[in-house]
Amino acid sequence: MKREIITTKDGSKTIHIPEWNEQYHSTHGAIQEAKHVYIEHGLAFFCASEGFVKQSQVSVLEIGFGTGLNAFLTAIKAKDLNLNCNYVGVEGFPISNEELQALNYTNTLNNQSIFDAIHQCEWEKECYISENFSLEKQQKQFSKIANENQFNVVYFDAFGPRVQPDLWTETIFKSIYKTMKPNGVLVTYCAQGHARRAMISVGFKVEKVEGPPGKRHMLRAVKK
Ligand SMILES: C[S@@+](CC[C@H](N)C(=O)[O-])C[C@H]1O[C@@H](n2cnc3c(N)ncnc32)[C@H](O)[C@@H]1O
Repeated sequence: MKREIITTKDGSKTIHIPEWNEQYHSTHGAIQEAKHVYIEHGLAFFCASEGFVKQSQVSVLEIGFGTGLNAFLTAIKAKDLNLNCNYVGVEGFPISNEELQALNYTNTLNNQSIFDAIHQCEWEKECYISENFSLEKQQKQFSKIANENQFNVVYFDAFGPRVQPDLWTETIFKSIYKTMKPNGVLVTYCAQGHARRAMISVGFKVEKVEGPPGKRHMLRAVKK
């Protein structure tokens, strides 16, 4: 499918898919949305919760590595919090180097060496991006995810249910639930009722949380 780079309202860029009229991030602000949904309401929430054991590793799974923006922000946050983090990003259709350069995330976020290390990291290999952040990028379909009891935090960042309804079902959420440790936290930008009910039916405790600018709600699900 054709992909175009567009500028969102906070000045940061994202990828637009004209055929679907769908974006990789919110048009109200790509960096703003990623920080709000995944970093603050996902990673930081988990680190402040009873499930977090201080000085331990936090394992993050990202469903939809895409531009790598969430991984980049997580590596920066891990450095700020002095948090040991290992990160697995699953992606079926990696973007090109040209697209990556055009997105120019280091323009606002700096940390060029972290950004370069993330994108120079070979697929299917664990790479040490910084002292406290390791990354494994896995190129595969989400339906092939079969880890068990491994992750504390899941960033569920698939395209929306309007264009990929099969990714917001009990089948997918059941497999994600299995990958998580007890008290693990899943966050997503989507607040759709059907997705919320599918999460509840596989065992998650789900709450609606205030969304990023331009969106009333997002979802946070905890594995109890
Ligand atoms: C909303 S975008 C992810 C944005 C990403 N988190 C970021 O920060 O750039 C959704 C991603 O899921 C990938 N994707 C869609 N369907 C998939 C599937 N069935 N299996 C694996 N990847 C898929 C797309 O290629 C796209 O990169």
